[in-house]
Amino acid sequence: MVETNSPSPIPFYTHGITMAPMAGVTDSAFRRICIKLGATCLVTEMVTAAGLSRKSVKTKNMLKFHEDEQPLGVQLFGAKPEDFARSSALVTPLGFKFIDINAGCPVKRVLRSGSGSSLLGDIPRLLEIIRVTKENTDLPVTVKIRLGLTYDNPVPDNIGELVAEAGACAVAVHGRFRADFFSGEVNKEGIKRIADLSPIPVIANGDSTSVEAALKLRDETNSTGLLIGRGAWGNPWIFRGIAGGNPNPEPGEMHSVIMEQLQMMMEYVPAPQVFHIFRGHLVQYFRGFYGAAQLRKKAVSTESIHDVDIVAKEADIAKHASKEDFCEEQQPLH
Ligand SMILES: Cc1cc2nc3c(=O)[nH]c(=O)nc-3n(C[C@H](O)[C@H](O)[C@H](O)COP(=O)(O)O)c2cc1C
Repeated sequence: MVETNSPSPIPFYTHGITMAPMAGVTDSAFRRICIKLGATCLVTEMVTAAGLSRKSVKTKNMLKFHEDEQPLGVQLFGAKPEDFARSSALVTPLGFKFIDINAGCPVKRVLRSGSGSSLLGDIPRLLEIIRVTKENTDLPVTVKIRLGLTYDNPVPDNIGELVAEAGACAVAVHGRFRADFFSGEVNKEGIKRIADLSPIPVIANGDSTSVEAALKLRDETNSTGLLIGRGAWGNPWIFRGIAGGNPNPEPGEMHSVIMEQLQMMMEYVPAPQVFHIFRGHLVQYFRGFYGAAQLRKKAVSTESIHDVDIVAKEADIAKHASKEDFCEEQQPLH
């Protein structure tokens, strides 16, 4: 039996509010914004363990981060224990605070290779991956799972105990099955069943679209920490709100945060690609206020700092002007 009361080596993750790993979203610039606005911890986008063990330059570039992005964990995905052995040894000296293993991704491309949530259908392999990762690093190892493959094929309720015995010090649970993809309501009962039996901290994940929803998710699932994904994309102020501050941007703040995020991205992505990538972030800021749809249309044709500046200023004004006469919807899920 694994010791239940040992203090967490990574309390900023296990007992904090973390920006969830999101491929194509949690790039270095966005992570810097999230930590500035109150996230207690960050995780990279998922990085392929096979690519790293082949020493792929493109994959290694995904490991680059700015010194402001701390505490930062690195997330690896893959299917083969030997890839995790090599890649965990490789990432260990780079300055990450922990290694997270992706056992939740439902995307077909990832599943075909036997990675992501496929591992939930082969728990012995998942445990072997955790074991070899742990053997090849002195960093804490964590795992991110879903409730199972399908409703009829859930992970065992004592999955926390199993992964802890294999060497994980925390488990994040997205309260959906693989078959749900991202639809339907998050299943809090399922997370709670796992948390109630887990000897290691459980981090709850799913549908934290507001401060209230996030705190309810944590407290009603008996979890110690939270991972916030889509609810923070275009709305990083949710972290400040959970920390007790203003959950909404002050007038002028949305504009300044957008410009800051763009400048950060320009430090490592050259123009014009940077504007193409940045559009994906920009449209997310323009949601839930009168005129947002029109501004999203403008956002997708921005091609310069000037274009972004103009549309971000306009959006900032529209967001605040519309407060009284527009019933602000919750940040929609994408
Ligand atoms: C665009 C997108 C990319 C994602 N990429 C990853 C990823 O790289 N690794 C991972 O573990 N989960 C990934 N996820 C899942 C999220 O981390 C999170 O588990 C899921 O969105 C549920 O949380 P939320 O309702 O707060 O968004 C991704 C989700 C989305 C929408």
